[in-house]
Amino acid sequence: MRFAYISVMITDKSSPIGFYDSGVGGITVLDTAMEAMPHEDYVYLADCSHAPYGCRGSDEILGRAMFCTGKLISDGAKAVVVACNTATAVAVDALRKAYGAIIIGAEPAIKPACKSGAKNILVLVTPLTAVQDRFLRLVHAYPDKNITVVPAEGLASSIEKHIDNTEAVRNEVYALLSRYSVPDAVVLGCTHYVHIARLIKDYYGAGVRVYDGNKGIVDRLHNELSSAGLLNVMGGRVRFVTV
Ligand code: DGL
Repeated sequence: MRFAYISVMITDKSSPIGFYDSGVGGITVLDTAMEAMPHEDYVYLADCSHAPYGCRGSDEILGRAMFCTGKLISDGAKAVVVACNTATAVAVDALRKAYGAIIIGAEPAIKPACKSGAKNILVLVTPLTAVQDRFLRLVHAYPDKNITVVPAEGLASSIEKHIDNTEAVRNEVYALLSRYSVPDAVVLGCTHYVHIARLIKDYYGAGVRVYDGNKGIVDRLHNELSSAGLLNVMGGRVRFVTV
């Protein structure tokens, strides 16, 4: 496979941080980052022409990950956040090999859910994430837990379509959750699902904790930028790009 972008290591702290996802999901990660690091500049790339990722094949998503990461780096990003669990599961190792930049992936928050003492855990993911070795290794790392993987077919598309009124996906989500016993914890293993965390919390009530990986992603980003001496104190702009 050939890619049009060349790896360039950016060492300028005033350069923006690049984020990408298939669409609106990664905005939840961007939001967390902007709160934690308000003095950075950000570029958010939504690969709308190829959304949703979760119903496509691994080769295609690997190609999109190479393209989007390459574009952000060649446009000057000092770090790239793959704000998408699906693209991370498929491509983050290949991206790190291909590009000499800071690359942060999105991993479902299974570890914090397990550490909280939850025994029965539902992990909602896209169908493509559900079959990735990287993801399955994470699930199998906790053999003493009862982790049920739920491939939520079509849910990311519905959220994308109803982003102005996520209440519109309530029936679809509740029909999906009703097929499973009530767990101790739910892990949102797709950044799109963070937009409907409130619906899921309402469905189960206060006894079931709902986890997303956004804070973990942003903590890793902050640590890597800090170690590389690349934290900015002068920025604060956000630019959105679609391809
Ligand atoms: N938001 C992405 C994820 O975290 C992709 C969802 C999709 O496009 O299917 O998996």
